[in-house]
Amino acid sequence: MDYVAKVSSLTGDVSTCHEDRTRAELGCRQLACENADMTAQTLTLTRPDDWHLHVRDGAALASVLPATARQFGRAIIMPNLRPPITTAAQAQAYRERILNVVPPVLTFEPLMTLYLTDNLPPDEVVRAKAAGVVALKLYPAGATTNSDAGVTDIRKTYATLEAMQRAGLLLLVHGEVTDPAIDLFDREAAFIDQVLEPLRRDFPGLKIVFEHITTREAAQYVGSADANLGATITAHHLLYNRNAIFMGGLRPHYYCLPVLKREVHRLALLAAATSGDKRFFLGTDSAPHASQLKEQAVCGAGCYTAPCAMELYAEAFDSVHALNKLEAFASFNGADFYGLPRNIGTMTLVRAPLVVPETLPFADTVIKPLRAGETLAWSLRA
Ligand code: DOR
Ligand code: ZN
Repeated sequence: MDYVAKVSSLTGDVSTCHEDRTRAELGCRQLACENADMTAQTLTLTRPDDWHLHVRDGAALASVLPATARQFGRAIIMPNLRPPITTAAQAQAYRERILNVVPPVLTFEPLMTLYLTDNLPPDEVVRAKAAGVVALKLYPAGATTNSDAGVTDIRKTYATLEAMQRAGLLLLVHGEVTDPAIDLFDREAAFIDQVLEPLRRDFPGLKIVFEHITTREAAQYVGSADANLGATITAHHLLYNRNAIFMGGLRPHYYCLPVLKREVHRLALLAAATSGDKRFFLGTDSAPHASQLKEQAVCGAGCYTAPCAMELYAEAFDSVHALNKLEAFASFNGADFYGLPRNIGTMTLVRAPLVVPETLPFADTVIKPLRAGETLAWSLRA
């Protein structure tokens, strides 16, 4: 079905204005429906997937996982726990812990990854493949949250990468160099030349996802590469440039890694995401950190976008009149790139105001979602 058929006017249908239980549990609230705009639109999509997600563990996991399960059929689960997930057995156990906190009314499939280290044995790749692990994540050591166990020199991992290429496991890369002499805002572009290009030359059969790209250089690089290179793009990098971090004072909830860049880069990402190019797909990089850890002298990197992820993507695509491109980006391209079936079932977004909660429960404390307290233009239909 094409976009024109899917976008329909709400002719008197006010059922979307009733709070559903899951939404209420999450603290999201739709505004009163009395003056709902009857010309508002709905957008029905094949159920989307999140190809880059952090859900942590323990009580924090239980707090955040339902938000994603409500929106997405599957998610690629990042392995940067403490200690990191480096074995097939750890990935299987983590998968069980995730499944244990999926609300019974929802179906959700976590897709597991291992954390690549300097000495992850090639044998573990074979065990991982047999256990259903789909990818390994490359964190350059020191690049971001919980990356100290990451790779210090990519050449140390070559035997493991060869095993991955043979087994058909994907490599997901945090694409930033860590050299302190290189300006923070230039580290993604430097990674392309210093690491990614040689890596792709040496492993032409390895499928690689350039995660959470943030620059025009990365978008152009992926756009001109072959079919074995894909990229995820976050909602926050589509919606914001680096001014957001400094608007009227320092705003820690807009600090993530790779950091937000200039407007020219945001526009290039928007163009890539809405281009229809199959190599670009949705990855929220929703990265929960307790409020008090964000609002302190040294704040952790990460934006918590899971509770309103699709609403934020809809806003971004709507801003350039490209809602007709959202379904491929959110629901088809990632599954196709990973060689997995597309989801069955749909989700419906409605152009109806949604107030993002100020805080949400997070283990024994609270977390602030991105856009806390603000009103979004799109919301999920119950
Ligand atoms: O902003 C980020 N937060 N970027 C990452 O790469 C890691 C993530 C986290 O785990 O908090
Ligand atoms: Zn991430």
